[in-house]
Amino acid sequence: MALWKGRFEKELDKQVNDFASSLSFDKRLYREDIAASIAHVTMLGATAIIPSDESKKIAEELTKILADIEDGNLQFNNSCAEDIHSFIEQELTKRLGDLGKKLHTARSRNDQVATDLRLYLRKEITVMDRLLKDIINTLCDISEKNLDTIMPGYTHLQRAQPVTFAHHLMTYSAMFGRDLGRLTDCSKRLNECPLGSGALAGTTHAIDRDKTAEMLEFNCPTANSLDGVSDRDFCVELASACSLIMLHLSRFSEEIILWCSHEFKFIELDDGFATGSSIMPQKKNPDVAELVRGKTGRVFGNNLALLTMLKGLPLAYNRDMQEDKEAIFDSVDTIKICLSTFTSMLKTMTVLKENMRRAVAKGFINATDCADYLAKKGVPFREAYKIVGGIVARCIKEGITLEDFPIESYKTFSDVFNQDVYHAINLENCLNERKSYGGPTGTSVKNQIQLMRLMSKQ
Ligand code: ARG
Repeated sequence: MALWKGRFEKELDKQVNDFASSLSFDKRLYREDIAASIAHVTMLGATAIIPSDESKKIAEELTKILADIEDGNLQFNNSCAEDIHSFIEQELTKRLGDLGKKLHTARSRNDQVATDLRLYLRKEITVMDRLLKDIINTLCDISEKNLDTIMPGYTHLQRAQPVTFAHHLMTYSAMFGRDLGRLTDCSKRLNECPLGSGALAGTTHAIDRDKTAEMLEFNCPTANSLDGVSDRDFCVELASACSLIMLHLSRFSEEIILWCSHEFKFIELDDGFATGSSIMPQKKNPDVAELVRGKTGRVFGNNLALLTMLKGLPLAYNRDMQEDKEAIFDSVDTIKICLSTFTSMLKTMTVLKENMRRAVAKGFINATDCADYLAKKGVPFREAYKIVGGIVARCIKEGITLEDFPIESYKTFSDVFNQDVYHAINLENCLNERKSYGGPTGTSVKNQIQLMRLMSKQ
């Protein structure tokens, strides 16, 4: 039975009922809906808007409904309710008769849904927060074991300058650290209570919005009732924070996929985190990373769906807004499953240090250091760059590295070269001399680890 019986002469068309129903996806808000209803009815009792014994009875029955849902004794299937709010209210009325009908005094589904959604997402943010801290700490753990694992750093996917695996991994840790900050920011603005905004214009009943806000552990009630029911900025903010988390995971996935290819072979995934091919026996595929990269699209899509859904809406509530839930739920679900699976994959992978070391030895990764050697001896850097460019070209022709290039040959390019050039281009020295703040040395990366560990403890 529809909630608006009275004004209407006909039942809702069956097709429209199915079309408009949100119960299949908003049923997951049942805990929040009941919590908000208990807070609301308790406030109605405390302010004597309804008698306090009635308020108590309603609250008690709501608690029972919650227990019945949790125990599987009350199911959502085959319900004729169009959403979770009407489902709970109908169930209450089924059990308490007319008394149940008092619950909806001084509220609307518009402030109800806004409150439920905020409560739900607030809880989900704490789960995502924990998962982000887990990946940050995992990256710190792996980095601690790889402070001197030299690997090529790349630009344009061309070997560029030496870094360590720890230095490289801590980049992702920094990204996830910023993601943590975005979640914290988002939950600050989200943590205001719309309950009591009514349909849009508040109510003539003498409600106490501070009390309901406090009971539901919000920082305060939302200040404007129209805004309370029409604001979904918190969904967009969260969806966009989710987009950035996926963007980071997706870039990381791309590297994992490259690193476990035979062309790189920098890591080996655990057998439990890779799949084989049904036809090619030699294959070990990085499906987790590929799926994470693939799922990024839907999270970006959800973000745009929310923005587009909201962009033309006049104040205050419009039914379009029902579309907010599937989008934000999907983003949150995707983030949770991706973060946790990806982290487990990282925890179990093997780092192939020797292969990384081999890759650094080729590719003239110390060419900048060779030019810096000349620059430190007074040759203008542009000039030094040109000289070393010529040396690299010669080495490529001869099929040798800078380390193998004889000192006599160096001297034909510039008489500034001395025996100590070999010290300057030694790969370990190239790495350890990059002492600038944020660089790849063990001391610097240890500092980065310390900062991230500190952040993930907050
Ligand atoms: N199912 C609705 C939603 O998710 C709840 C609010 C309905 N309000 C209304 N006036 N029809 O947005």
